[in-house]
Amino acid sequence: MLTDFERVNFDIAKIESWPYVTALKTGGSDLSKIILTPENTKHLEAEILKFVATQKTSENLLKRRNGITKHLTKVLTNKFRGSKLSTFGSFESGLNLINGDIDLCLQFNGEKPKKVLKKIARMLNEDGMDNVKLITTAKVPIVKFIDSQSKIPVDISINNSLAVYNTELLRRYSTFDPRVKPFIISIKHWARNRGISDAAMGTFSSYAWTLIAINYLQSLDQEVLPNLLKKDGSDTVTIDGTKYDIGMHSDKELNYDSKNQRNTGELLSHFFETMAKDWPWNNGVISVGSGKILTRKEKNWVAIKPYISDAIQDSEIKRLGKFSLPVEDPFDNKHDLGRVLDVEGIFEIRDEVLRAYQLISESANWDIISEIKYPEITPNEPQLDLFDDLRNQDDDKTKRDLESLYAQLKEIEKSVSVRESERNEAIKMSKALRRNSELAKEQTGLSSELRPRRSKIDELQSKRDSSNNHYIPVHFIEEEISRVYSLLTTESLNRVEMNLEKEKQMFSWFFELQSMYEHSKLTRKYHREFLKILEQQQQSIEHIKDIRQEMIEIQSFGKFTDFDDLAMKLLKELNPLKRERRNLRREIGRLEAWLRKQTHFNNNKNSRNKGKRRKFVNNRKVDDVKSKVVSGDSFSLQDLEVLLKNGGLSSVNQPKGKSDKSKRKPKKNNHTVTPQRGKRGKSSKNQ
Ligand code: CTP
Ligand code: MG
Repeated sequence: MLTDFERVNFDIAKIESWPYVTALKTGGSDLSKIILTPENTKHLEAEILKFVATQKTSENLLKRRNGITKHLTKVLTNKFRGSKLSTFGSFESGLNLINGDIDLCLQFNGEKPKKVLKKIARMLNEDGMDNVKLITTAKVPIVKFIDSQSKIPVDISINNSLAVYNTELLRRYSTFDPRVKPFIISIKHWARNRGISDAAMGTFSSYAWTLIAINYLQSLDQEVLPNLLKKDGSDTVTIDGTKYDIGMHSDKELNYDSKNQRNTGELLSHFFETMAKDWPWNNGVISVGSGKILTRKEKNWVAIKPYISDAIQDSEIKRLGKFSLPVEDPFDNKHDLGRVLDVEGIFEIRDEVLRAYQLISESANWDIISEIKYPEITPNEPQLDLFDDLRNQDDDKTKRDLESLYAQLKEIEKSVSVRESERNEAIKMSKALRRNSELAKEQTGLSSELRPRRSKIDELQSKRDSSNNHYIPVHFIEEEISRVYSLLTTESLNRVEMNLEKEKQMFSWFFELQSMYEHSKLTRKYHREFLKILEQQQQSIEHIKDIRQEMIEIQSFGKFTDFDDLAMKLLKELNPLKRERRNLRREIGRLEAWLRKQTHFNNNKNSRNKGKRRKFVNNRKVDDVKSKVVSGDSFSLQDLEVLLKNGGLSSVNQPKGKSDKSKRKPKKNNHTVTPQRGKRGKSSKNQ
């Protein structure tokens, strides 16, 4: 792939950042003339083994890593019910460097992965983790962060099941032959230190380098590693609807014995020689899954434009076409791990390979070959000794530092408290104004009902009155009709003659009553409607009166959105302050822990001098000092000493009455993440 660039003519200044590539292009260096002799490389074996021994995971590192994982497992599985946290990556495969990250995968199907990662990022941020970054553009979205205490980097991905399987494949390879582990670890270390092992920076990922290294060992004339994959469909998994063949041969099935007798140092120098002289991507595809380097034709991964030769002539081209330096994922055969590379990354990789080969040919030692190129981006070793900087420092200086930290904390507390109360007021105002505007809306709604209802009332009233001016209740007419009817009919039944005049009157009254009855029924209907609507009208009026009473006279202060904006602005100001406060408290906790340790040590030496009287005086003094801290009064070094001997800052922060842990309700669904285990972790929870 680089050969096409070596053939074209261009302004050499464009590649001056890569001296070894430039030397090749200008003829300053001729690879065919650089030949390795046993003399050049014989020291490498011992150096590599010595270096690899320094990368052994110490008890302390293991404890710290396990502590972080255990803590995150607790917090994440608590937050995402039904989820499971698994570890994968180099610490599981055995191919780790001591400054390697913790790779975690949360198996969870409750919500979309990006949403889950966003929530995790927020939790980690709130807890003051360093460099929390949410990377959602990658093939597998992740949250990256650095444990603030140990400085160990952590990656969390969601449902990244395939990585769990490919880690197992790497683990199998790493234990297959004793040369594999030191060989791969050395290449990873070299790539990391030379700044060419970061997919986010346009170079190969650590995983890709591991595959390149394995594939080299598989494709030697006398290979060191076989192909472990069966690829016969006998063992498959389906992830997100795609089927992957994950079947692996057992060691027994393979019964493999390598004829290759080279030691790790020789393998390593030969690796760089091959990479320099026989750049695998000129026509090949790295394919651990096939157990050899495939030709581009075999894989059907022919490079697509723009090529390097295009990019070198056109500086606008930042990325090359597909399959520039292809590395096939062993399980996801469609995935080219070289897709992340950019033009500069490719030049950087080529330059570093040429450099390593040149240095080896000059008998350089391993420290020089793998020398750190960019200290600012190379991960530091984990910080396992919390008191490293304090051990050689005078304790009085530590006490003075502590005093100054307390002063800073006091200032920060003040700023936090002012902003918090301002924010609470803004939230209250926003709520009140929001309520006011809701009430105003309701009032307008009710008022708009009044007018049409009033005309309906008038209409019903006039209908009722016109149907019968004097409203006589229906039941009265009914009773009268029945009385008259009974008079008329009973007399005739008893055959008692009724005076004719009387009878006429009764009949006419009876008919009149009947006509009144019809009218009255209609009137009753209108009357009832009238009463109902009148009541509605009354209720609306009452409601409006209530609303008016409830509305607070704060309209003049502005809109509720103004207060929402203010609350948001204050929150943004509060976040860094709280982070600073948390860091200060942590640092105070650390210094206190150290000084307490020292005090305890000294006390043990002088324990015979303790007396009852002193204890009594001390207790009084402790209370005095604690009240000074709470009230923010200044206090002396002596006060500080008293405080340290009696529980430090955490003992002051606990409000009275809450200190009895047994009375506390267990907190469910605690959303804050505190990778600091032990007392300090706990005290930061309630921030
Ligand atoms: N992984 C993957 N696909 C990638 C990158 C990584 O499947 N494109 C998986 C691999 O299982 C890899 C793990 O994620 O082992 C962790 O990736 P990374 O941390 O980059 O590599 P490690 O092998 O853990 O190396 P390091 O020691 O540098 O952390
Ligand atoms: Mg890793």
